[in-house]
Amino acid sequence: MKILLTGSKGMLGSECREVLGAEHEIIALDRKDLDITYWDKVVEKIQHIAPQVVFNCSAFTDVDGCEKESFMVKKVNVEGPRNLAQACARFGCKMVHFSTDYIFNGYKSIPQPYFEDDSMDPLSAYGRSKMDSEVAVRDNAFDYIIMRTAWLYGLNGRNFIRSILHRVLYKKMKILKVVNDQFGSPTWTHTVALQAGELIKAGVTGTYHVTSEGYCSRFDWAKHVFKKLGIRAAVEPCSSNQMVTPARRPHNCILENRLLKKQGLNIMPDWKIDVDAFLEKHGDELIRRAKSGD
Ligand SMILES: NC(=O)c1ccc[n+]([C@@H]2O[C@H](COP(=O)([O-])OP(=O)(O)OC[C@H]3O[C@@H](n4cnc5c(N)ncnc54)[C@H](OP(=O)(O)O)[C@@H]3O)[C@@H](O)[C@H]2O)c1
Repeated sequence: MKILLTGSKGMLGSECREVLGAEHEIIALDRKDLDITYWDKVVEKIQHIAPQVVFNCSAFTDVDGCEKESFMVKKVNVEGPRNLAQACARFGCKMVHFSTDYIFNGYKSIPQPYFEDDSMDPLSAYGRSKMDSEVAVRDNAFDYIIMRTAWLYGLNGRNFIRSILHRVLYKKMKILKVVNDQFGSPTWTHTVALQAGELIKAGVTGTYHVTSEGYCSRFDWAKHVFKKLGIRAAVEPCSSNQMVTPARRPHNCILENRLLKKQGLNIMPDWKIDVDAFLEKHGDELIRRAKSGD
């Protein structure tokens, strides 16, 4: 298939480019090639390239930054996806869009998971913008897949694994405090890209939860990473109340891949299997980058 991919230099975009490129023709565009907030440019690119599928990997993802950047957040996270959805409808392409666990309030008790048809009730500006992005895609694209994922990590981009390594190996923090009251499923961008490939091959449409199986707290996740990498780090649990951030985060981020399972399409493994595979493959590089301050 011919796939136009936006946000190609982001954490998920760079992985989708590599993984899907093994089987498909990918036209990968970063922000300077295509700023999705410009309707005319979106139309021009999609008309010119004539892809069968458009992957939207662009987003404003700084969750705390979203609280004070409301104009840009709306432009990138809502108007951008709407532009892509309308252009996809006009030129008969399928649209693949990514959303987040932060569209839910997380009030369900642990370990009750969120299902695809649970009502959205975001706690943050980021969550609200992603909720609106989903509505924009559903209302405008004829053929779409929305993949709601969570707690992503990968070799590139800002993510939890890179951040804790940076704090311990570069900033030399003696004690690393990590919240133990936010629960979710760490999910590797590589596997999300593989799952996206399965979905477009199956020709399905709809909103899918796409996270690794099982769940943990962020504190459990941090301990697992240091143990696997053989790094001695003093990791201490704390509560979200002790770590005040501009944006509120849900306590329960556990998503159930119900639709994937119902359709026999779920390839997502247990979170520990993927975290271990990721660290075995990229551990040395992650440590090298963290030590150099990258
Ligand atoms: N990270 C997570 O844990 C997580 C969890 C759940 C869902 N998601 C969703 O997954 C998707 C990908 O997230 P990610 O973590 O890969 O984000 P990311 O690393 O921040 O990548 C986002 C990309 O979007 C680009 N971009 C920003 N504004 C743009 C614009 N106006 N036009 C075109 N491109 C633009 C950025 O380019 P610049 O670098 O040049 O700004 C960046 O390359 C998003 O929809 C996000 O909401 C992420």
